[in-house]
Amino acid sequence: MIAPSKLDERAKTIARDFPILAQPTSRGKRLAFLDSAASSQKPQAVIDALVHYYTYDNANIHRGVYELAERATAAFEGAREKVARFINAAESAELIWTRNTTESINLVSFSWGLQNLRPGDAILTSQLEHHSNLVPWQLLAAKTGADLRFIEVDANGMHELDDLDEKLHGVKLVALSHISNSLGTIAPLETIVPRAHAAGAIVLVDAAQSVPHMKVDVRALDVDFLAASGHKMCGPTGIGFLYGKRALLEAMPPFLTGGDMIKRVEYRETSFNEIPWKFEAGTSNIADAVALGAAVDYLETIGMDWVHAHERRLTAFALERMRTLEPLGLAIYGPLDPKDRSGIIAFNLADVHAHDLASILDTEGVCVRAGHHCTMPLMEKMGWPATARASFYLYNTEEDVEQLAGALHKAARIFKLA
Ligand code: ALA
Repeated sequence: MIAPSKLDERAKTIARDFPILAQPTSRGKRLAFLDSAASSQKPQAVIDALVHYYTYDNANIHRGVYELAERATAAFEGAREKVARFINAAESAELIWTRNTTESINLVSFSWGLQNLRPGDAILTSQLEHHSNLVPWQLLAAKTGADLRFIEVDANGMHELDDLDEKLHGVKLVALSHISNSLGTIAPLETIVPRAHAAGAIVLVDAAQSVPHMKVDVRALDVDFLAASGHKMCGPTGIGFLYGKRALLEAMPPFLTGGDMIKRVEYRETSFNEIPWKFEAGTSNIADAVALGAAVDYLETIGMDWVHAHERRLTAFALERMRTLEPLGLAIYGPLDPKDRSGIIAFNLADVHAHDLASILDTEGVCVRAGHHCTMPLMEKMGWPATARASFYLYNTEEDVEQLAGALHKAARIFKLA
């Protein structure tokens, strides 16, 4: 067993910032929340920011000339600057507020995709994408006549890149998740992005599972679009963002239309606002954007390098503990080399259905997701009806992992595997 470390001590302190984690379950069990890949918990500072906004600063933005409206606008645009800095965008105008990663990807599909793709062009994605980075491209391919291609993944969920240059022929858009939400695979973007660009393609990255967990630098990665969600990074639900390079965003038509995204409207025609507002029709999700700014402040105070190091170590510890259950039939999926995976561990226990397994873990206070994880084609390819999935974040500790291991032993006893 890896000795308790300073990382774990700090995580215990961090966990106290999250009031929800202090409550026991209705069965009186300690809560071990291991489903942050679905949605993270929120620290008090973020909850306070939301309450503060509605208590003191609430008004519509970009419209009022009175002090309160100016304060709301400053808080909203200030949050945009924080998030833009967090991902190292060159300027906050390249950061568009959306509801979530899914909406960000749809924005690119409708706005950039319909304008730029023709029959004979191709879109390249991978076999392990979340439905939100697959279905929009299926529809776009059907509408434009473009071909949809896939980077294959092996049995451990690793990208097969031997035929990448061949697959890139004629590709206009490469759309990949940075980290797989099902298997935790970290995509080799440093290899794929330059080759995609060399082939004349632009690159969109679904960063829903990476931006919350590691330093993501859009300029170092040289990606053209990057999408992420606030609720997975200690922020509220209903707020996400799309990063896009200025030149691309400026050339794109608006996605949704109406108020706020206009410069001048006449009865028969309209000229559009500058970026980013060209893509933000109607009253935005102001309060949640402001609270996402507070979440970024919180994560920066802790430090993304610390978050990443802590999760790496905790994942290694969890894998070590879980492997002791392999003789009882526990199957662990995903990359074998820890450096290729994030804090996501998918697993099954013998032929127990993942939903039944997750329900037993729940009786022990352990929250994991079970099912297809919005990656039905991947599950089918791998031949798994479903998997259970534990995912870690900055507030998880060794105690959570021990609770998971204990609950898995209980499940093995119930199903007479032990
Ligand atoms: N995309 C989220 C997950 O993987 C909902 O659970």
